[in-house]
Amino acid sequence: MTHPLEELREVALAEIAVAPDEETIEAARVRYLGRTGSISAWGERMKSLPKEEKPIVGKLLNEVRGAVTLAIEERGAKLRAAQEASALADLDISLPGTPNEIGALHPLTQMLDRAIAIFRRMGFALAEGPDVEDEWHCFDALNTPPDHPARAEQDTFYLPDGHLLRTHTSTVQIRTMESAPPPIRVIAPGAAFRRDEVDATHSAQFHQIEGLYVDERVSVADLKGTLEFFFHELFGPGTEVRFRPHYFPFTEPSFEIDVKSKALKSGEKWIEVCGCGMVHPAVFEEVNRARRDAAYDPEKWTGYAFGLGMDRLAMILFDISDIRLFAQNDLRFLKQFAA
Ligand code: PHE
Repeated sequence: MTHPLEELREVALAEIAVAPDEETIEAARVRYLGRTGSISAWGERMKSLPKEEKPIVGKLLNEVRGAVTLAIEERGAKLRAAQEASALADLDISLPGTPNEIGALHPLTQMLDRAIAIFRRMGFALAEGPDVEDEWHCFDALNTPPDHPARAEQDTFYLPDGHLLRTHTSTVQIRTMESAPPPIRVIAPGAAFRRDEVDATHSAQFHQIEGLYVDERVSVADLKGTLEFFFHELFGPGTEVRFRPHYFPFTEPSFEIDVKSKALKSGEKWIEVCGCGMVHPAVFEEVNRARRDAAYDPEKWTGYAFGLGMDRLAMILFDISDIRLFAQNDLRFLKQFAA
């Protein structure tokens, strides 16, 4: 005689074996094994069985529950595998893929990389400072008095709390000297900000490479040699470099540098690309005050500093006519510089 549980198993296994999809299997699972399912109901029924039948039916119940559970798992796995296989069968691996758009370096970044590589060969280390500065690092420490025009509200972006967007990277001269004693030989590339009238050659944000070299017996000849070498490396040996006397509060003497090269599209025109000079003793004194020592004794140390206009250099190098193109993110422009 077969026990009703055994019949239940037959029916369940037969049904599961031909279940066409996962929903049907799930329905069977609920019907047999769910909380109110027919197999589960036998657990309840056990309680009212005579004592001697309990172990036999209990064992059978476990077997049936195990067999049905396993059958459900196996049928489910089989259906999923079949589904996957048919999905793959529809896949045409001969179809061309979606090409990745590969980007390229921005012309300003390319310019920067070239310039940095030249200075690194000459032993300059990289330094940096924040875009948002205090007035002391941007002006006072650089011997620039409160009534200097560069500090005027119409020329500089002030924040409500008195901080400002640095108007030049010369702030990093100060930060570098605050943090380390001489000798110093660093370049500091970065953004600078001025409230300029924006046109083809002026932007409210532009980029500079600051340079600072402090050591014993550094002279104008070192400054001139270093920057002439730099421009020849950058623009080619035929490049002419002109030093014009100029004024900056934080250097003495001060110069502006113009370059001209037949190899460049700008041809016979002199183009101003750099401000520079010998670090003013007042700057060393102010740094000493901040450091609370005499590390930068102006009797012992001398130095030169320079600030190169990166946008201007990139415009010359790549023959770009409008500085605003750098920030407009127009792919038609940028793609022309993709290496
Ligand atoms: N900071 C100056 C400017 O932005 C350039 C400069 C740097 C001049 C270092 C002298 C020394 O115009």
